[in-house]
Amino acid sequence: MTDFYSRLARYYDQMYSFIDYEKNAKTLNEIIQRYKKAPDTRLLDVACGTGTHLKYLKNTYQVMGFDISNEMLEIADKKCPDIEFIQGDMTSMSLDRKFDVITCLFGSINYLVKKADLVKAIHAFSKHLVTGGLVIIEPIFTTDSYREGSLGILCVDLPEIKIARTNVTRREGDIAYLDFHFLISTPETGTEHFVDPSPMGIFSKDMFLKMMEESGLSASFVEPGLAKEGLFIGIKK
Ligand SMILES: C[S@@+](CC[C@H](N)C(=O)[O-])C[C@H]1O[C@@H](n2cnc3c(N)ncnc32)[C@H](O)[C@@H]1O
Repeated sequence: MTDFYSRLARYYDQMYSFIDYEKNAKTLNEIIQRYKKAPDTRLLDVACGTGTHLKYLKNTYQVMGFDISNEMLEIADKKCPDIEFIQGDMTSMSLDRKFDVITCLFGSINYLVKKADLVKAIHAFSKHLVTGGLVIIEPIFTTDSYREGSLGILCVDLPEIKIARTNVTRREGDIAYLDFHFLISTPETGTEHFVDPSPMGIFSKDMFLKMMEESGLSASFVEPGLAKEGLFIGIKK
């Protein structure tokens, strides 16, 4: 997975230019105002990628980003030189400070395919929250919304780069393999073709909410969320 994002980091913002990050930040802000009980505004975006949510949240919150991929963070750093970004794995995150809000968005949590890793990550989120602090976790799918055999296509058609990515999703036990096939053409690289299995964890809402409760969070599932997949919300007890 780290290799996947290392390879794609330089194309990431072009691939996901259809996402309205500014609107997402506005919705997040409304949710934060509704649920947060802690008085301050320190916000950590875990698995922040290229930092676009933070670009829009930084005017309202004291923000910081955290991600496993150095290459994604390099782009984030160029985009937002005034924001601190830290490299690390969310399952073993151990920072020297606490936050009032932690976000983990756009299905980043589903990259954890082992139940033990989910437990570790949720525990790490809880450990880094002050009492009354809020964690917001956006899954890409749960057991309820996962669709076996669903087809995907993504195209980037810019003068300087062409990307075609198609996939058919398949399931093995509690892991969904997105099986992405990429064709990427640039004048510098020519055309490269590669396949990435992109394994992602499928977990039930009930199991996830139970894990959150067991980590000292008062947990609920809120719909529609940002991209209609809902959001797990936890308030630190
Ligand atoms: C789909 S991208 C989402 C990026 C960003 N949150 C957004 O909304 O654009 C998933 C991100 O999760 C990061 N990631 C995956 N596993 C991680 C882990 N164990 N710890 C920290 N970051 C991780 C990847 O490097 C990648 O940047």
